[in-house]
Amino acid sequence: MIVPFELDPSQPVPIYRQIYQRFCECIADGRLRPGDRVPAVRALAAELNLARGTVDAAYQLLIGEGYLIARGAAGTVVTPQLAPVASPTHRAPVASTTHQAAHCGALPLALQIGLPALDAFPRKLWTRLAGRQLRQAGLEGLVYPDSRGYAPLRSAIASYLGISRGITCHPDQVFVCAGYRACLDLISHTLMRQGDTCWLEEPGYFMARNALLEAGAQLVPVPVDDQGLNVAQGIARAPDAGFAVVTPTHQSPLGVSLSLPRRFALLDWANRQGSWIIEDDYDSEYRYQGKPLPALKSLDQQGRVLYTGTFSKVLFPGLRLAYLVVPAEQNQAFARQADRLHNHCPHLLQATVAAFLNEGHFARHLKKMRTLYARRRQWLVDALHQQFGDRLQISAQVGGMHLVVGLCEGNDIELAQRARAAGIAVEPLSRWYLEAKPRHGLVLGFTNITCVEQASIAALRLAEIM
Ligand SMILES: Cc1ncc(COP(=O)(O)O)c(C=O)c1O
Repeated sequence: MIVPFELDPSQPVPIYRQIYQRFCECIADGRLRPGDRVPAVRALAAELNLARGTVDAAYQLLIGEGYLIARGAAGTVVTPQLAPVASPTHRAPVASTTHQAAHCGALPLALQIGLPALDAFPRKLWTRLAGRQLRQAGLEGLVYPDSRGYAPLRSAIASYLGISRGITCHPDQVFVCAGYRACLDLISHTLMRQGDTCWLEEPGYFMARNALLEAGAQLVPVPVDDQGLNVAQGIARAPDAGFAVVTPTHQSPLGVSLSLPRRFALLDWANRQGSWIIEDDYDSEYRYQGKPLPALKSLDQQGRVLYTGTFSKVLFPGLRLAYLVVPAEQNQAFARQADRLHNHCPHLLQATVAAFLNEGHFARHLKKMRTLYARRRQWLVDALHQQFGDRLQISAQVGGMHLVVGLCEGNDIELAQRARAAGIAVEPLSRWYLEAKPRHGLVLGFTNITCVEQASIAALRLAEIM
């Protein structure tokens, strides 16, 4: 064994995470070099006297973040292209700093993904509504809030979903959670057992991957093509999986929609198998051509879909408010767990969002944002075309808040690191892959580009870096 491990079970950090950190340190300080072969899962588990699943979870995370590459029978190696990253003086792993930066409270960089247009948020109106809620809240505003969410907000969400997403649900089925990750935590605490198998889109959202790994799930990557998740391949790989996590409206990150035949195939599989589908409908409100697609949940006759949505993309992520819709038969079980987890969301923010929805501001805000994003998206597409011509393949997504561009050559992780050093926060597409040979590309946010010139400057800087 080339890597001396010191693991401390008494630490609050889970063991698999400690293994992950040790590997990152070894790669960063040069003890593990690009191309070095790392021990097989079984061998390392035996050496450390751990369950294979624990080591496997650490390896999956390292592979997902681009540190390691699994080469089947040839073993797992440190990613050869990591060379410039792994300098002995650079102890902080670059892959994790890139992702932390998206959620560390810093102001957005150019082309940063995942944020709505912060300049266009109606702050005055929001302040007025929040002030009113604060003044009007009686003792109810001061005590512990309902762990399932503020009742008027749950009702407002149920009405909104009925009108906009084709979902029929009672407010009792709606749970307000502190972000999508908290929705996943509530689901895993209520329905998941250690070792449950879970399909995950390949490429797929890294936050879901990490949350599910931490919940003890065995992840099975299922490829995504131009019709979305390849359901037949999912069935071939893990027919009896207990869960499937999907982004059917705009696949994250590729932006394709799950086709209708695939939607029916997925539901049919879940119905036969008694499996759960977790639908992540994170930015479905933004579609620039044609009508918004109804949610997968709207086709769910047998109550197999756990639907999640978030206010991060349509209002602002600092709110930390998302929601989960569960089948009516599961209301009690979810309510018990919500109470146990004790992750209540602040009353004032929930009441303000409820007023925003009920008084028609939300619908108006969305309408404005759709027009604004269509314009900002076009600015970026034009600027990229102007700088790169045919050298970049821009995927024509019909909706969402980011563009994906494919790279014909080069390593996207390296490129994203260089871009970040120049103040541009593009994300490397390969990071969204769990195990398949990743496609290299860049994911670019356009929502905070406030003028044509900004788009041109960002494209120019990107061209210089490339
Ligand atoms: C695919 C996907 N799902 C869900 C979310 C929402 O996360 P949250 O509600 O925690 O802000 C995001 C945010 O970036 C996302 O990219």
